[in-house]
Amino acid sequence: MSPAVADIELRLLIEAVYLRYGHDFRDYALASMKRRVLQAQLRMGAASITALQERVLHDPGQFAELLQYLTVPVSEMFRDPAYFLAIRRHLVPVLRTYPSLKVWVAGCSTGEEPYSMAVLLHEEGLLERTILYATDINHAALEKARKGIFALDAMQGFTRNYQQAGGQRSFSDYYTAAYGGALMDKALRDAITFADHSLATDAVFAETQFVSCRNVLIYFNRPLQDRALGLFHESLSHRGFLGLGTKETLDFSAYADRFETVSRPERLYRRRADPR
Ligand SMILES: C[S@@+](CC[C@H](N)C(=O)[O-])C[C@H]1O[C@@H](n2cnc3c(N)ncnc32)[C@H](O)[C@@H]1O
Repeated sequence: MSPAVADIELRLLIEAVYLRYGHDFRDYALASMKRRVLQAQLRMGAASITALQERVLHDPGQFAELLQYLTVPVSEMFRDPAYFLAIRRHLVPVLRTYPSLKVWVAGCSTGEEPYSMAVLLHEEGLLERTILYATDINHAALEKARKGIFALDAMQGFTRNYQQAGGQRSFSDYYTAAYGGALMDKALRDAITFADHSLATDAVFAETQFVSCRNVLIYFNRPLQDRALGLFHESLSHRGFLGLGTKETLDFSAYADRFETVSRPERLYRRRADPR
């Protein structure tokens, strides 16, 4: 049976975005791409996906708007607090033994995950010896992340997460009210290097001891998931750690036997030693 017209339009849009802007969504899970493109079409007031493609091809501003639908830039401080609790419990004792650390938060969105990581590392006395990279393909999200300003009314929920994640202080120690929001402390902002990096098209850029990539691989098809996991494996130093969070797993991936499990529920893994 031939594909529905909307599916053909979708594939053409994805191809056009790739050719025009270099953003490669060709190996994203199709059903959720379709849902998000249809939502964008509706909200952006285009008569069809083809009409949306016409606009996006000719107007980078329209592409920037479409990108916000395609990339799902949503996050929270200490999202899924048990993940951070597991990092404190299982990873920190080992990370503490390293003289210097590089940590990579891949798919960092608007920055909540790397800021949470920076707070945790600070509390564990590790931030000063850590280079923390946070990467994403969404420029607008990265810009917001760099500014480090979050909605004040989100702070109550973030504080709850922080406490459930093993935070011992007041979360308000880490921000001040400024610019109509909560501005994260300069020391935390300065500790994070935000950068544009695509798990679909870019290569490894650093050797790291811990990679955290949560709520990103769910949007990819299996070959692209394997590509991303390949990058993480290549980036991780001997016996480095990988965290995927509750929604993703290494099971059934091409890298399943390259890692051992550190915490099953939180999908924390450790790179196995290379065979001799
Ligand atoms: C739902 S957010 C997850 C944010 C954060 N990791 C968390 O768990 O709260 C997914 C992020 O993945 C990013 N993303 C999507 N495709 C990507 C790719 N190919 N390379 C890097 N980041 C990507 C999106 O731009 C978006 O900001």
